[in-house]
Amino acid sequence: MMKQPTVGVLRSRVRVEEKLLLQAFQDRGVAVSLLDDRELVFDFARADEWRRFDVVLERCINHSRALYALRILDDFGVAAVNRYGVALVCGNKLETTSALARHGVPTPRCMVAFTPASALRAIETLGYPVVLKPAVGSWGRLLSKVNDRDAAEAILEHKDTLGSYHHSIFYIQEYVDKPARDIRAFVVGDETICAIYRYSDHWITNTARGGRAENCPATPELDRLSVAAARAVGGGIVAIDLLEAPVGGRTPAELRSEVERRRTETGDANTWVVGERTGPDGAVAVVAADAINLFGLDLYARLARESGNSVVSPASVAIALSMVRAGAVGQTAAEMDAVLHDLGLAAHFFPRLMLLDGGRLVADGPPGEVLAAERIRDVFQVDPALVRLPLEAAPA
Ligand SMILES: Nc1ncnc2c1ncn2[C@@H]1O[C@H](COP(=O)(O)OP(=O)(O)O)[C@@H](O)[C@H]1O
Ligand SMILES: [Mg+2]
Repeated sequence: MMKQPTVGVLRSRVRVEEKLLLQAFQDRGVAVSLLDDRELVFDFARADEWRRFDVVLERCINHSRALYALRILDDFGVAAVNRYGVALVCGNKLETTSALARHGVPTPRCMVAFTPASALRAIETLGYPVVLKPAVGSWGRLLSKVNDRDAAEAILEHKDTLGSYHHSIFYIQEYVDKPARDIRAFVVGDETICAIYRYSDHWITNTARGGRAENCPATPELDRLSVAAARAVGGGIVAIDLLEAPVGGRTPAELRSEVERRRTETGDANTWVVGERTGPDGAVAVVAADAINLFGLDLYARLARESGNSVVSPASVAIALSMVRAGAVGQTAAEMDAVLHDLGLAAHFFPRLMLLDGGRLVADGPPGEVLAAERIRDVFQVDPALVRLPLEAAPA
């Protein structure tokens, strides 16, 4: 019998994706060592300790941690998925475009400039509208569609004055007048294992911004293009965003080396809990928690079996944040609620919650009613055991 490989999984929190991966390893009888990036210490004198792994699968949440860990593993001579070079190129749109161009993979026309004046020249050479993107970023954040010179001048000045140095590296792309969707293809090695359309009324179609996922057939043409794009950045396991041009076909616009399953399934796309809170000064914050909180629900379920009282949030970060939140007031408090992104905390802080399933409102009312076990079971397809926190633990 072939010897099973020794696999290390470098991870932060264990999210839905990691649970599925661990299950898949278990089903195949592959033993894995879980390596928590919050506890790891890399000792350059002890590289040999890492060589016991045949391969390390990198699943860090923080991109910089992933990059540095992969850099070190690469120098230690430890095989990793993805390799350092791939994560480096995919983490930066400028590097990605350069790699695609170098390998002759068609990509939307793109220019790079370093000053507002030269950027304006580049924009006007491409012709309006153009899209400006931060070289490093994701989830559609800080993307600008620039329709005319007034907008171009304003955005360039804002980026130059208010942004960090990185916002003065102007990455300018032609606007592709695509249908109300893009395509995300997932490539593993030399195969496109699946693809989804991401539909949205907005030109930015990321599912993180409300885009709706639908199955997209991985045709031979899509496979050929996606695999060529994946090879151009060094291969491995990558996700590719492709734009469909009215003429000229599909072009890969972006590649990612961190692949999330989240919201790629048509079934649980757009499953959100939305809460609204009005601060004393009238500021309104909206909190959204999605299916990623399955982890939190599992934790609650485990704790519910134990005796005694406990106050817990799904992750230590959430605990730390909620403690800070307790001391916050007014607008700050409302804003913190908005970024906490957590079911338990949503229930804790918000007098009214709205639960959406596949974009459809299924409940609206106080948390106790909206987050009833039965409903969580229906919407999130998990079996929760709810732990009620004592009232006095609730911050004002
Ligand atoms: N040049 C473009 N033309 C038209 N739509 C674009 C263009 N670039 C990006 N988009 C839209 O914006 C989304 C996000 O862009 P992307 O480059 O993938 O950045 P991010 O890393 O933030 O996901 C794409 O999925 C697509 O829907
Ligand atoms: Mg993208």
